[in-house]
Amino acid sequence: MLICRTSEEIELLRESNLLVSRTLAEIAKYIRPGVTTASLDKIAETFIRDHGAKPAFKGYGGYPATICTSVNEEVVHGIPSDYILKEGDIISVDCGVVLNGYYGDSAYTFPVGEISDDLKKLLEYTRASLEAGVREAVAGNRVGDISFAVQSKAESGGFSVVREMVGHGIGTKLHEPPEVPNFGKKGTGPKLLKGVVICIEPMINIGMKDTVLRNDGWTIATADGKPSAHFEYAVAIDSGKADVLTTFRFIEEVLNKK
Ligand code: MF3
Ligand code: CO
Repeated sequence: MLICRTSEEIELLRESNLLVSRTLAEIAKYIRPGVTTASLDKIAETFIRDHGAKPAFKGYGGYPATICTSVNEEVVHGIPSDYILKEGDIISVDCGVVLNGYYGDSAYTFPVGEISDDLKKLLEYTRASLEAGVREAVAGNRVGDISFAVQSKAESGGFSVVREMVGHGIGTKLHEPPEVPNFGKKGTGPKLLKGVVICIEPMINIGMKDTVLRNDGWTIATADGKPSAHFEYAVAIDSGKADVLTTFRFIEEVLNKK
């Protein structure tokens, strides 16, 4: 049973997701060689609380921080630490908030200084696979239509799709039905109705699709040690065209000034 949100609820979700978009842009200002991932976590937590919201991840299943910072071969759920970012790294930052009882959740993979052409291509294709998924996120389609579009775009660049983690519904909980895999077949899975709100979040690898869980109990990394990227949008299903509740515009304004 998928929950169809009213237009009032969708506006509340838009506010929550807008705050996440602004938080990621605030973090973007500080991403450069020499900074620790823990310092980015502090910036995020302060920014979220200053805007009257709460970090959604902190305490979720025992997770210890406000953001997830996953560097290079780390796929998702990297815990902020004293690791110092260096030129040529990529860092996926995943952030969630709860504001007025409604959740926001988004992720963006940033370059640290100048990165290799291979990494640029990974970021381009991961982002494009997310946009391809969004184009299928319309009323009447099925979840599998999104999954197929994401997978096709990623694999067309020679990349592989992580299977173990998936996108999800979002609303008054961080994770609601349906699951939104980044691989699958057209015409399969739950039907998307107007008002259903989901997070689409491809995790795409340069090498093999397989992952491992690190000993900290949280960090997922690629099994072959090759880099991975992650972008995430919250999207409200509508007829004709998806209503994307997240925007990367603020992030891009910051990055273009660097
Ligand atoms: N965006 C991630 C997700 O949808 C965030 C979960 S991190 C956790 O699963 F710490 F909250 F678990
Ligand atoms: Co998510």
